[in-house]
Amino acid sequence: MKQKLLLKKSPLNGQETEIQKYGTVANRPLSLDHKVRLASANGLNQILADTMTLRDLYKKHHWQVSGATFYQLHLLFDKHYGEQAELVDTIAERIQTLGGVAIAMAPDVAETTRIARPPRGREDHTIQLFRLLQAHELIIAAAREAAHTAVADGDDGTNDMLVSDVLRTNEFQVWFINEQLAGTGIADIDEEAAHSAVLAHA
Ligand SMILES: [Fe+2]
Repeated sequence: MKQKLLLKKSPLNGQETEIQKYGTVANRPLSLDHKVRLASANGLNQILADTMTLRDLYKKHHWQVSGATFYQLHLLFDKHYGEQAELVDTIAERIQTLGGVAIAMAPDVAETTRIARPPRGREDHTIQLFRLLQAHELIIAAAREAAHTAVADGDDGTNDMLVSDVLRTNEFQVWFINEQLAGTGIADIDEEAAHSAVLAHA
C-alpha cells in the first residue's frame, strides 16, 4: 500500500508541463483553416475515445467469453480487437497531423466515451455481441456525420480516413457480429423485439 502511494507521487505533480493544451490545434501548413482543423480534430477525438472503448470491449469479451461457441468467438473477438487497435493509431495520428492533441489515457477516455460501461464481471455471449453491435452503430453514425462535415469543410484527408478506414472496418465487423446472433431474435430489424430478446437472454 505504501509503495503504491509512492509510485503515484511525482515531482511533476502540480507542475505546468504541457506544451500544447488538449482541445487546441497548432499551426500546420496544410492549406486548411484553423477552424476547419479544430472542428475535425474535435470530432476525431470523440470517435477516438469511442474506438478505444470498443477495442477494449473486444479484449474483455475475448477473455471472458464462454459457451459452445467459445473458441470461434474467442478468435473473432481478438481479430476485431487487432483491427480496432489499428484504427485507434490511424485516428490518433490524423489528429496530430491536423495539429491537434489525441486523447490517450484510460481515465480521460472513460470520461469522454459515449459507449455504456459494462460490468466488470462476465456476461452471456449474446449480451456481449449485443453490446458490440451497439458500440459499432454509435461509431458508424459518428464517423458518417464527421465525414460529411469534413468533406463540406474541404478536409478531404479526414473524410477519406473516416470513410475508408473507420466506417468500412466497422461496417464489416458488424456483419460478422450480427451473423453470430442469427436466430436469437437480437439481430432483428424490429428494435423493440430485439430489446426484449436481449432482456430474455440476460
Ligand atoms: Fe489472447
